[in-house]
Amino acid sequence: MTSHSATLIDGKAIARGVTETIRQEVEHLVRQGHTVPGLAVVLVGNDPASEVYVKNKALQTHHAGMRSFMHMLPQSTSQDEVLELIADLNKNPQIHGVLVQLPLPEQIDPVTVTNAILPIKDVDGLGEVNAGRLALGMTDGIVPCTPLGCLKLLKSVHEDMTGMNALVIGASILVGRPMAQLLLKENCTVTVAHIHTRDLPSLARQADIIVVATGKSGLVRGDWIKPGATVIDVGITRIMQENGRSRLVGDVNFEEVSKVAGYLTPVPGGVGPMTIAGLLHNTLQAAKLSYRE
Ligand SMILES: NC(=O)c1ccc[n+]([C@@H]2O[C@H](COP(=O)([O-])OP(=O)(O)OC[C@H]3O[C@@H](n4cnc5c(N)ncnc54)[C@H](OP(=O)(O)O)[C@@H]3O)[C@@H](O)[C@H]2O)c1
Repeated sequence: MTSHSATLIDGKAIARGVTETIRQEVEHLVRQGHTVPGLAVVLVGNDPASEVYVKNKALQTHHAGMRSFMHMLPQSTSQDEVLELIADLNKNPQIHGVLVQLPLPEQIDPVTVTNAILPIKDVDGLGEVNAGRLALGMTDGIVPCTPLGCLKLLKSVHEDMTGMNALVIGASILVGRPMAQLLLKENCTVTVAHIHTRDLPSLARQADIIVVATGKSGLVRGDWIKPGATVIDVGITRIMQENGRSRLVGDVNFEEVSKVAGYLTPVPGGVGPMTIAGLLHNTLQAAKLSYRE
């Protein structure tokens, strides 16, 4: 038996609440005569994990009362063909959000493709315009879904994060960098750690908030944690167990960290569901922006 002192943050329950609020707002907007918000998801190739992700995104989009348009393209699709499809989706008034599932096959440059999506439809928030708005501290851009979900989880336990020491471990475009920007906007003192960071454990021990997104399972150990700190575990790694079955684990050594942290997100059931909730939020935001045009 393990004794847990940390309170687990239930991402599944919080995501259900967010989805329900979005569903009600969608219903209200449609009753007022607006077009049903529509999300187009483009998947190139047949990566099994990506297929699961996009199917789940489509399902949740329906749950929120929005329309989902799936575009499944073969592995051999050229970059020009993807760009042509994006140009069509950009023009289509039924579609308010466009998401191209990453990773893409090697013949396609993800930066070119991401930047081809109209900023107003860039629901992943990864294009230069939205990333730039976030970096400038502007509030009218679209924020990447996973950091947006992490922020919502943090806000579920901290009404005000002003002055808190926040450590973001991992500096990817998808998670770490936008997460650091969001925490800065919450008036945290933010440190971003990456592969070259020296003495990560001692940085971690000073943090009131840790968000870890590295894909290195079990990286964050119990003796790195300031007692009572809040730890958000973004990592997802599938590991094989001795019984031959696989399971998902995060970047946190759960057994150790749960004994010291004040709040902790589990894997699965923490950040994962909030990423999809963030996508639904962004699709609704994109639809509302289009209604104003
Ligand atoms: N739950 C969700 O919905 C969700 C969403 C997105 C991602 N994820 C998961 O989150 C993890 C990270 O995803 P990502 O897209 O951000 O990955 P990524 O692009 O590979 O970035 C990982 C980052 O972590 C840094 N890093 C790697 N090992 C480190 C170490 N030992 N110490 C400190 N920093 C280290 C890397 O530094 P360098 O660049 O210097 O190598 C890089 O900045 C993955 O497990 C992914 O599956 C989950």
